[in-house]
Amino acid sequence: MTTSTTGSQLLASAAGLDAADPLAVLRERFVPGDGELIAYLDGNSLGRPLIATREHLFRFVDDVWAPRLIRGWDEGWMDSPLTLGDALGALTLGAAAGQTVVADSTTVMLYKLCRAAVCARPGRRQIVLDTENFPTDRYVLEGIAAETGTQLVWIEPDPLEGVTADEVAAVVGPDTALVVLSHVAFKSGFLADTPAITRIAHAAGALVLWDLCHSAGVVPVELDAWDVDLAVGCTYKYLNGGPGAPAFGYVASRLQGELRQPVQGWMGHAEPFTMGPGYAPATGMRRFISGTPPVVGMLAMRDMLDLIGEAGLDAVRAKSSALTAYVIDLADELLTPFGVEIATPREAARRGGHVMLTHPSFRELIPALWERGVIPDFRPPQGMRVGLSPLSTSFGEVAAGLALVARLLEERGQGRLISVR
Ligand SMILES: Cc1ncc(COP(=O)(O)O)c(C=O)c1O
Repeated sequence: MTTSTTGSQLLASAAGLDAADPLAVLRERFVPGDGELIAYLDGNSLGRPLIATREHLFRFVDDVWAPRLIRGWDEGWMDSPLTLGDALGALTLGAAAGQTVVADSTTVMLYKLCRAAVCARPGRRQIVLDTENFPTDRYVLEGIAAETGTQLVWIEPDPLEGVTADEVAAVVGPDTALVVLSHVAFKSGFLADTPAITRIAHAAGALVLWDLCHSAGVVPVELDAWDVDLAVGCTYKYLNGGPGAPAFGYVASRLQGELRQPVQGWMGHAEPFTMGPGYAPATGMRRFISGTPPVVGMLAMRDMLDLIGEAGLDAVRAKSSALTAYVIDLADELLTPFGVEIATPREAARRGGHVMLTHPSFRELIPALWERGVIPDFRPPQGMRVGLSPLSTSFGEVAAGLALVARLLEERGQGRLISVR
């Protein structure tokens, strides 16, 4: 038994795609996986470490932490949430300096900015969100609604299509304080029309917060040009900051003076070391910091920002689109005969950096893939998320990974039998 001719040709085309990839050489900058790893298809959940990061961490211990000790705080650590935020904003978010901070987890940063936004629109009693957004966004907003006596207004988008501008226009109004949405949907990968939705929310007098967890470092974002108010995002996905690396938050300059975030820690105080009796927020982005900056957690993402700068974000996006297109083509040929469905937009301009495939057997199939060195992730109820990190993922990896998915589906006797060689 063999795959269809087109399926075999598609698998074989991976070598040519890798040979023609102008970014392929940069894959050597990453620490190789263990000998068992065949395909890492989860760079959208946790990016791989760079070789430069290994050295950077060693150097930090030997050259900075050990010799400088507490003096390090005056020699750059204290400002690192803002200096790193500026670099991240300039390179990946289209944000001018002074609007991005690196701190907390995404969940905590989301809480701080959303709570501040709702309190900055006191007459308005509604928060607009959607049922397809990441759980933490929904849960945090449930909590804020309970704390502030506001009401949640749910959009229920088509899971494949994501939230549209029309759906937002239908629910915002004079009572909307805040709209919270994801730029790239964490399951379907749908790319929202951020500029249009932001304009619609503003026309209703509301503020908008965009969750950029699945965009930062892979899909170019223009926060200033799109007139975005607030944004948050992860740095351990496409920014390769490492497990638990701190989040980033963006607050447009025009709003900073107006917003008062709720976790009033000493590091957001105008004069933290006077240690005075009451809280007085610092000016600018410093007021959105709460506690001691996670200095060690910020080291790895600097290396990835350097690499993205070297490659150019537009080139990263171009390879990302080619990788997701390749996944869709392979899935059409190798997996749909087994009943797999593609739950991501087919038009490249409407999707982010990952592809969602669905099948009733994926919950049990994915552990079997992991055992054999192919690592995507599972998202309920029956989704396999194939995450492509353009600077570390090869077309060959994608081919090997999806070929194994096809083989396991075949072994499980799902649908019509096709063997992949
Ligand atoms: C879209 C989205 N928002 C928020 C989060 C929460 O991030 P954290 O767990 O770092 O707070 C995640 C985590 O994966 C995410 O994918």
